[in-house]
Amino acid sequence: MKLLGISGSLRAGSFNTLLLKAAARVAASESAELKVHDISAIPLYNGDLDGDVKPAPVQALLDAIAAADGLVLVTPEYNYSFSGVMKNVIDWASRPAFNAVLTHKPCALLSASMSALGGARAQTHLRSVLAGTLSPVYQAPDYLLASAHTAFNNDGELKSDDHQKRLEQFMQGYLNWLQHPR
Ligand SMILES: Cc1cc2nc3c(=O)[nH]c(=O)nc-3n(C[C@H](O)[C@H](O)[C@H](O)COP(=O)(O)O)c2cc1C
Repeated sequence: MKLLGISGSLRAGSFNTLLLKAAARVAASESAELKVHDISAIPLYNGDLDGDVKPAPVQALLDAIAAADGLVLVTPEYNYSFSGVMKNVIDWASRPAFNAVLTHKPCALLSASMSALGGARAQTHLRSVLAGTLSPVYQAPDYLLASAHTAFNNDGELKSDDHQKRLEQFMQGYLNWLQHPR
């Protein structure tokens, strides 16, 4: 399985990017590949730029999504929703509507937040938006990382065995669902 991972935080020390990298290590241990795609150069969506020839970072994103068996979208919660840069990626990847690289592309959602809720509201909004792009979302178990600022050690690994175990269960479940969708 070839997975593409996108972090909805551009911050160098992002907890969501750390979580994505932790998920990539789990994927590797399950004989899957999870490539982290850098979205920092993606311009804001502008229909005038969305012609046959697209900005190079956008085309690279679309090609990477098209080549992936599934996506792992990891988002912070900003003001009770998912981040604007994640929405921007979805907007680019959703055109032309219902015949886009996102159409029918299976997605898994992760979130990390410093709050006790772990980005629950962000995930709910993201699920709703992905319904609009006809992108099926792995349903359960959810993975939300609360108190993310205390969750990683200096090597960027999850400190808690419970967090790590649940991430492994999440990725195993997602990979199983990709192979046997139901
Ligand atoms: C603009 C902004 C809005 C935020 N709103 C929320 C929020 O609604 N809920 C929440 O749990 N955390 C919120 N936070 C805190 C983020 O969860 C926290 O900054 C987190 O570390 C961001 O993810 P990152 O580490 O991957 O960059 C907000 C942060 C920013 C910058």
